[in-house]
Amino acid sequence: MRVTTLLGSAKKKGNTATILSWIEEEMKSLRHDVEHIVLNDKKIGGCLGCAKCKDSPDEIACVQKDDAIGIMENMVSSDVVLYASPIYFWGFSSQMKTLIDRCYSLVTNYHRPGHTSLMRGKRIGLLVTGGGPYENNVEGLFTAFNRIADFLLAEKSGELYIGGCTTPDELSESTREKAVELARSLVS
Ligand SMILES: Cc1cc2nc3c(=O)[nH]c(=O)nc-3n(C[C@H](O)[C@H](O)[C@H](O)COP(=O)(O)O)c2cc1C
Repeated sequence: MRVTTLLGSAKKKGNTATILSWIEEEMKSLRHDVEHIVLNDKKIGGCLGCAKCKDSPDEIACVQKDDAIGIMENMVSSDVVLYASPIYFWGFSSQMKTLIDRCYSLVTNYHRPGHTSLMRGKRIGLLVTGGGPYENNVEGLFTAFNRIADFLLAEKSGELYIGGCTTPDELSESTREKAVELARSLVS
């Protein structure tokens, strides 16, 4: 399978990147083709809400010609897309949220007859890391991701939240095992 992973942390060796690397290693060992995109290295403008993209449902017709176009092309040509983000104020990192908003241009007629999506039927998964001690820390983000999957007409094929993170070298063996499990659930 062709897999695109989206790293939403600015830290290339942080908690999210480390766990993501374990997921990618497992996928590669199973002979899947993995493309890793660091969103923080890209120029991605915020969605303008102009809805011009809705005039051309069969293409990525966003008026902003920045790096989001290439990333969305990559997503659309993949079988699996894995979103990996630290939790920031009970939501996605701004790098991830900005891309998610731009994916508005992949869908037409949401909540109406004729709902279509360039992501239809693709598998999507979510990895989130957090540091806080809160109960129900990630529930809001998981709810949002379920709705994003419905919006994209995609199939949510796995999610993993690792809370209480400090530094990457403190991540446990059980976290590594959960990462491997998520990798397998996304490509099996
Ligand atoms: C701006 C900011 C907001 C954060 N908000 C939360 C939060 O709402 N809940 C939480 O558990 N951790 C929060 N954290 C902690 C990070 O989610 C946590 O340290 C994460 O593992 C960092 O991932 P990284 O090393 O991949 O960047 C926040 C950190 C920052 C910098």
